[in-house]
Order: sequence, then C-alpha cells, then structure tokens
Amino acid sequence: MGEKILVTGGTGYIGSHTVVELQQNGFEVVVIDNLSNSTATIVDQIGRISGKKPRFYELDLCNEAALRVFFRENHDLAGVIHFAAYKAVGESVEFPLKYYHNNLVSLLNLLRFMEEFEVPNMVFSSSCTVYGQPEVLPVTEQAPVKKAFSPYGNTKQISEEIIEDTVNSSALKAISLRYFNPIGAHESGLIGELPIGIPNNLVPFITQTAIGKRQKLMVFGNDYDTPDGTAIRDYIHVVDLAKAHVVAISRLLKGIHKESLEVYNLGTGKGTSVMEAIMAFERVTGMKLPYEITSRRTGDVPRVWADTTLANLKLGWRAEKSLDEMMASAWMWEKNLAAGILEF
Ligand code: UD1
Repeated sequence: MGEKILVTGGTGYIGSHTVVELQQNGFEVVVIDNLSNSTATIVDQIGRISGKKPRFYELDLCNEAALRVFFRENHDLAGVIHFAAYKAVGESVEFPLKYYHNNLVSLLNLLRFMEEFEVPNMVFSSSCTVYGQPEVLPVTEQAPVKKAFSPYGNTKQISEEIIEDTVNSSALKAISLRYFNPIGAHESGLIGELPIGIPNNLVPFITQTAIGKRQKLMVFGNDYDTPDGTAIRDYIHVVDLAKAHVVAISRLLKGIHKESLEVYNLGTGKGTSVMEAIMAFERVTGMKLPYEITSRRTGDVPRVWADTTLANLKLGWRAEKSLDEMMASAWMWEKNLAAGILEF
C-alpha cells in the first residue's frame, strides 16, 4: 500500500477526479467531504473506476472536534490535498460571511491539525481568479494578485497568504495550484461535474441546454475586445488537472521542491472564446446549440489564459487533452446523468 493522502472535498468535481488519479498511481486515499455540494454516491463511482472504494468520512472541516478525531484515527497521513470549499461567485457576494467562515475556518483547522499531527505536505486548490484581468497575457505566476472582485476570490487570496505565513513559521511545505477553467469529465463516464440548480459555469450550461434541461444558452457579451467579441478563457480537462495534483503531492513527498511554498498555473496555455467553445461542442456532438447573445455578466474579465511554462518545467506536467475531448466527455457525462447513472 502506498503513502496515505487525505483529499478534502474528495467527492466534489475536481476532488473526485484527483482521488482516482492518486489511487491509480498507488496512493492510499482517504476522503473528507461534508456533501454540501456533492453526493456520497461519488465514493462508489470512484470505487468502480479504480477498483477500490476510498475510505470516506462525512465530516465538516469547520467541526474542530470531529476533525481532531479524524486526525487521531489517521495519524499516518503523508499529505493533504485540500479542495473542500464553497465556490459559487454570485452566492459569495450575497453571503460573504458564509464564504469567509467556511473557506477560512476549514483551512485554519486543517493547518492546525496538520501541524499538531505532523503532516507536513499540503497541495492547495487555488484559482486564476487571483489575477483579475492581467495586464500581460499569457499570465505568469509573477503577475500581481489583484484586489478580489468577490468574497469567493478573496478567500482564495487570503488562503494563499495564510499558507504562506504558515510555511514560513513551521515545517509545513505547500504547493498552491491556480486553476484556469476546468471542464469535461472522466473517460469512464462515471464521474463529472454535478452543478446544483442552475449552473453558473459555461460548459454545464451548454450540456444542460443540449440535453433539453435549459431552453438556450445565454452568451454573456459579444462586445469584448477579442477577435469574435466573446470572452476568452483557458479551458482545461479536469483529468489533466487531477494529474497535476498527483505530480505536486509527489514532488512534496520526494522533497524535490525548491521553495516551501510553490505556486503553479494549471491551464493549457491556450485561450478559447465562448463562441469557439460553442462551436467545439457542436462539432463533437453534431448538434446545434440554441443560444442568444445577451449583456456582459458583472465581474467577468474579458481575457485570461495561462503561461504554463513553470508547471511544464518544474513539475514536468503538461495538459494533454484537446478542447474536443473536453466537450465530448462533458457531453457523455450529461447523457449518463440523464440516464440516471447516479442515485441521489
Ligand atoms: C468562474 C468564476 C471563477 C471561478 C470559476 C470556477 C466568475 C466571474 N468567475 O470563472 O472565479 O474560479 O468559475 O469554475 O463567476 N458564460 C456565458 N454563459 C453562461 C456561462 C458563462 O457566456 O451561461 C461565459 C462567461 O461570461 C465567461 C465564460 O463563459 O466568459 C466562462 O464562464 P465560467 O464557466 O462561469 O467561468 P469563469 O467566469 O471564467
């Protein structure tokens, strides 16, 4: 049995894909999730893919007493990959305290017990949202962190600062991974994104429209200063993203990291506009997607894509899957959901 890794938020979208990749690379995985934005069925689905159901603790990281019991039972952890957090931008504007409390208290509790129980390695789930609209594209990790537009974004910035201060004063070593736009689903069709209610993000909205759950996609603005007028993002396949976490935790475990806190962009390095994303979906599915151009969404940046040089060179990791593969897998997952693959 390989080294034991705790994945918090391990039944969530990126977390579940990462659990699978860790297991397939020989790690023993334990999952903590409070199921606030996922379902326990995902643990079974992970088991179907990897052949081994990870040990699952339904637990809220804000619950200090319960977390202490967990750490006592799991004193042999080699590292933690911390995904568990609220992530809806709009909701965070409406309920900022909910976001600050959940995302920050979770992290503080986790760091405290990691110190107490001598678990020195953490991979943290951050976001390209920390760059706002960068002055220079593609954006590197050296770009200034801009004032966050939303409480959600601010929790990511503050979390990175908390981790930085902690590594400077303790044995903790950490890697913060700044994701661009993760989309797609596992090739097995057994796990994927599970938006609750009306999706905020582009690709779940596209697939739900195509399956007939939504009437049409609203394209938020075609008057941006971009070639086709729609906003540009760096979409990355969630499995490529998950693989980067295996590389990052392995780097910490092997002790080959150069700094006690390293920060990496995770993207493809390629910008795709909303219209190009729609065209890719239509190309791979052969369907026509009903859409309407509407006004810009508040808080959206016009253009952002990653400079991935650092991750390519230092981690030896590179995103491999194409936009067409991302769309095809997202579509297969939506069809599987419609066919009732998950019981809630
Ligand atoms: C959003 C968050 C970001 C977060 C990320 C997590 C905002 C402002 N940003 O990124 O902080 O880290 O999700 O996944 O919410 N679009 C449409 N129609 C739709 C939905 C989206 O045209 O129905 C457009 C958006 O305007 C944007 C692009 O599609 O240009 C991507 O949007 P989305 O998937 O929501 O991601 P981000 O906004 O980049």
